[in-house]
Amino acid sequence: MDESVSHEPVMVEEVVEFLEPCAGGVFVDGTVGSGGHAKVILERLNPSIYIGIDRDLGALELAAQVLEPFVDKVRLYHSLYSEVEDVLEDVGLEATDVFLLDLGLSSLQLDGSGRGFSFQREEPLDMRMDREQEITAALVVNTYAQGDLERIFREYGEERWAKKIARNIVNTRKKFPINTTTSLAQVVEWSIPKKFHPKKIHPATRVFQALRIEVNRELEELEEGLKVGLRILKPKGRFVVISFHSLEDGLVKKTFREWQGEGWGEIVTQKPVTPSAEEVERNIRSRSGKLRVFQKG
Ligand SMILES: C[S@@+](CC[C@H](N)C(=O)[O-])C[C@H]1O[C@@H](n2cnc3c(N)ncnc32)[C@H](O)[C@@H]1O
Repeated sequence: MDESVSHEPVMVEEVVEFLEPCAGGVFVDGTVGSGGHAKVILERLNPSIYIGIDRDLGALELAAQVLEPFVDKVRLYHSLYSEVEDVLEDVGLEATDVFLLDLGLSSLQLDGSGRGFSFQREEPLDMRMDREQEITAALVVNTYAQGDLERIFREYGEERWAKKIARNIVNTRKKFPINTTTSLAQVVEWSIPKKFHPKKIHPATRVFQALRIEVNRELEELEEGLKVGLRILKPKGRFVVISFHSLEDGLVKKTFREWQGEGWGEIVTQKPVTPSAEEVERNIRSRSGKLRVFQKG
């Protein structure tokens, strides 16, 4: 296995600590990725069965290698976490003690060349986590109406230059299709006056993030995954979500509060747990991570 693309699990010590009360039980990992959290949990919490779901086949191949020593306990599924009920049915179970979601991208997706998630290299404008799905970032950029592009950049990317970027994309694509990461990054760069270029991130970061969320319908997935997750948890079961985007974290926070208000159980983390300074130094990708836990009553 190429270690350079293995994914360092974010806040794994904290995850293990929050899941200790569920040791020995059924674990469902809705975003198993390359098995980073899964491996540590299998080593330390002795699950009776560990069900790992991912929409990315490449990630599942890596997970299968990493989790080889636990082959008797692990079941891997190429699916959406919002379809976890079908997966459970396939395994012959109705409920779980743990539902874990670690949202965002894996290092494999970010660094694995050719996926179009990053503007650092010239790659096709793809951004699909599941390469079997039809909609790609190129399709969005080259066919969506200007108003829709603007809305996506503003809502999902919190990009204040959304209007101008959308207009410039539409003008550019009249001349030639925008099919690569670098050509899109250039259009975005031109659209934002130099003095307003962000200091710490590339000017195209927010637009890329927004497109990724749209292409993979990430917010719709999370909304559905939260609903389904509450249904499949056993009493005292724990729902753990790590998010990397304020819209996602806001949705998790609001949903957990509603559940608590309706008497479904209790919020375990009154405030979101964030990675230690030491972890952020070791793994820069952890820096915006927020961990929230809910326990069903
Ligand atoms: C941050 S990574 C998970 C890393 C993993 N926890 C580890 O330690 O190796 C997120 C993973 O979730 C997957 N994913 C994102 N949205 C998904 C969805 N709706 N259903 C299933 N998998 C999803 C991505 O393909 C990616 O592999």
